[in-house]
Amino acid sequence: MPVTELFERPSPDGEPDLQLTTGGRLRHLLTLRGLSRMQLTELLDRAETYLSPYGQQPVRTDALKGRTVANLFFEPSTRTRASFDLAAKRLGADVLNLDVNTSSRKKGESILDMMYTLQAMQIDVFVIRDASAGVPAYIARHVDGYVSILNAGESDVSHPTQGLLDLLTIRQHKPDFHNLTVAIVGDIAHSRVARSAAQGLTTMGVGELRLISPRALAPEPSEMPSARILHRLDEGIRGADVVMALRIQRERIGNLDGIPGIDEYFANYGISHERMKLAAPDAIVMHPGPMNRGIEIESSLADSRRSVITKQVTNGVAIRMAILSTVAETLDG
Ligand code: CP
Repeated sequence: MPVTELFERPSPDGEPDLQLTTGGRLRHLLTLRGLSRMQLTELLDRAETYLSPYGQQPVRTDALKGRTVANLFFEPSTRTRASFDLAAKRLGADVLNLDVNTSSRKKGESILDMMYTLQAMQIDVFVIRDASAGVPAYIARHVDGYVSILNAGESDVSHPTQGLLDLLTIRQHKPDFHNLTVAIVGDIAHSRVARSAAQGLTTMGVGELRLISPRALAPEPSEMPSARILHRLDEGIRGADVVMALRIQRERIGNLDGIPGIDEYFANYGISHERMKLAAPDAIVMHPGPMNRGIEIESSLADSRRSVITKQVTNGVAIRMAILSTVAETLDG
């Protein structure tokens, strides 16, 4: 009989003790919860140093020379996986992109046995995406002291590097978080992106955070006490400086009752040029991807001057370089 592994959903207080060393340095990145404004700012500042103008060669260093990074993605990914791969290579690391569909986990191997096996091959940093809540913390509790775990998307719980790249993108366009109104629109209830963005924005002191969704896709108010939970898009988008559209996470919704169909959804919650007339005149439009054009966002708006969606992607590589180089310094001691 294969061993059944039980993962515990992380507590709302996060894993501050687990992800930091006793000296307060970042060893694992599991969640943005518990990280200070100064720690977030240092990561954003470091990421800026890894950006180069479009058309020029990307920044390369040997900060991870001699280190090995393994990408373990048990859920589909384009952006996060490609950017961690590129980030590690641009820092000079060896990179293993394990094909989890042909790994021995398919034969019943536990995730811990898999981790111990890969750890024995002297892998330093594991980048993990999994559909089950609690997997990154579970692994972080069990690996050796010279290994780092980076959360690349955990169920609906957390996507900390996405949260960081969203903060960086917002800061580049709207540097004063305190005077900012941010509207996140869509399936908040099932979104790890919304949770990490809300945590990061709250720590950075955002002026107002609005979460707008149909009632069936709203979060528990107690979960994000500093945010305003709204159900009417016009009210939520009015005067907003930043509008972030999210897709409906159908893969995480057991019962689709109460979820609007595509046309109804776009009519009521789709971000369009028309809707953006209610936002601040210089408001930016964000989307973490993958996008469903014509459902949560009007296609031409996604390609318009207001859109910073490709900027988010570019910043994703820089943020992952910042995280990798930071944890490598911690592992160096
Ligand atoms: N935003 C994001 O996590 O995209 P991927 O699923 O393509 O990695």
